[in-house]
Amino acid sequence: MNASLSIVNPRVYTPINELYMHAEHLHAQSLSDLLGNDSACAQQRALSLVFTFGSLHVDFSKQRLTTETIGLLTAWAESCGLAAKRQALFAGAEVNPSEKRAALHVAARWPANEVPPRGMESAAAFCQYQRERMSEMVNRVHRGEWYGATGQAITDIVHIGVGGSDLGPKLISEALADRPSSIKVDVHYVSTMDGAQLLPLMENLNPATTLLVLASKSFTTADTQFNVRTALAWLSHALEVDEATVCRYQLIGVSSKPEKMTDFGIPEAQQLVFKEWIGGRFSLWSPIGISVAMQLGVECFDELLEGAHAMDKHFLETPFASNLPTLMALVGAWNSQFLNIPTHAVLPYDGRLKSLAAYLQQLEMESNGKSVGLDGRSVSHATCPILWGDVGPNGQHAFYQLLHQGSHTVSADFVAVAQRPVVACEKVTRALEAQEQLTLAHCLAQSQLFALGDDAIPQALRGLMAQGYRGNQPNSVVLLKTLDAWSMGALLALYEHKVFVQSVLWNLNPFDQPGVELGKQLATSLYQTLADEPVEHQNVEDPSTTQLLHKVNEWRKQRNDKGSS
Ligand code: F6P
Repeated sequence: MNASLSIVNPRVYTPINELYMHAEHLHAQSLSDLLGNDSACAQQRALSLVFTFGSLHVDFSKQRLTTETIGLLTAWAESCGLAAKRQALFAGAEVNPSEKRAALHVAARWPANEVPPRGMESAAAFCQYQRERMSEMVNRVHRGEWYGATGQAITDIVHIGVGGSDLGPKLISEALADRPSSIKVDVHYVSTMDGAQLLPLMENLNPATTLLVLASKSFTTADTQFNVRTALAWLSHALEVDEATVCRYQLIGVSSKPEKMTDFGIPEAQQLVFKEWIGGRFSLWSPIGISVAMQLGVECFDELLEGAHAMDKHFLETPFASNLPTLMALVGAWNSQFLNIPTHAVLPYDGRLKSLAAYLQQLEMESNGKSVGLDGRSVSHATCPILWGDVGPNGQHAFYQLLHQGSHTVSADFVAVAQRPVVACEKVTRALEAQEQLTLAHCLAQSQLFALGDDAIPQALRGLMAQGYRGNQPNSVVLLKTLDAWSMGALLALYEHKVFVQSVLWNLNPFDQPGVELGKQLATSLYQTLADEPVEHQNVEDPSTTQLLHKVNEWRKQRNDKGSS
């Protein structure tokens, strides 16, 4: 690997070469060497790699690094101009040059009573205005004063969106669903383009009391447009009104394209707008989050924004050596670029976080899954790792075998929740507390086993227990005091800023996604081919795709023939 190619500006000192040498040196040491003894030095190291911020506690002490590594990494961040770039992000500078825009998702969570940084003022005011409009809509539904086309009050929301217009709100809805609430509105998420998630909803929901939320920044995404068309057909048929009437009574649009919403037939009063400068995968905080507020209340949504804002301020104001998002980014870059660890697992030890890995996959891989720098040159080292994961305790019965005894090195984030308030009878409360304890014990045991391998086995049991745990798998533990809206806001903002810092380290634009476009274009012409329509731009033919098209046509024709006979 040519380390010198990573130097962004040759006139600025950068410790890249020292970091590569340091990595060589650390390769010879295992996590057991660094962590697995009681020496004062090991104790000190562990303590200096642990950070608490509000209700978040992050432990980096099972990472394959030392305080010297952190020193070199923070010097690297400084040499990349992180402080100035962080300032530019919050000031609304054009940090997304390919699309010529700012990235001001932080404005969407800036509180009304706090002066925003210079450059963010009008963005924060616009977001505040839309937030108020969103709150009015939500409160109207909650008061039972939003009536459908046949005059009945709304009981169910079907949120239709995909990617950033789906993953964030869905994750929060699932994470906080057990929050005690008097709200009687149910929220359902639909994202897959095949209509499979819509089918059971159309069978089970009352069409007269269902409100659709069409969430799409671009308002052109086929997945969402097709789902909405199907849902409108259902409501129109079931309520015996035309689709334009359904749009007037039972459709809210959330998009950055108000003119497209108007063309579609959504009345202006039912349009919520966010601007181009909020990227899809950063849009949870904008009115894209309306379904969270519908399910959990405006107050809860505000708490989510408060948690994210607290993390913004921490990121903006805290020196790098104790700045959580910066440290998380540096640790991730260290694993990927210097220790050559190609995949990163996200392992939440809480069923309510079952969609966390999917959310972070889009956030991290769509942002930094790139290998051409802002200067147009190819990057010569690894950038964003492949991120994957599942609920940890379930993963223990599936893929952990490979992690412990297979041949791959993997880094991981364990995410756990220390306590869950339970409202139940005493007996059930005790039973649930025991389950909470069991889950936490498993999380900590796995984190230890990942790091130490066989060396985690107590002396007295050595020789008795099956051995051969490789260990040396670096991992962090992110512990949340409780799973509440504030903590979720802070947690997701932590990862957002991690992504930004890594983009600075790797000199990437984290705010565009050119790589997802071509697939959509190729699908358009194949869609026409399948419909036997004239194709504007014929795809390049290849024998594999041709035979698949034949088979698909043959089997679809059989269904169609059956239908018509
Ligand atoms: O997958 C590409 C993408 O553009 C994402 O970045 C975005 O979150 C998703 O599609 C949905 O886009 P939209 O909100 O414009 O429908």
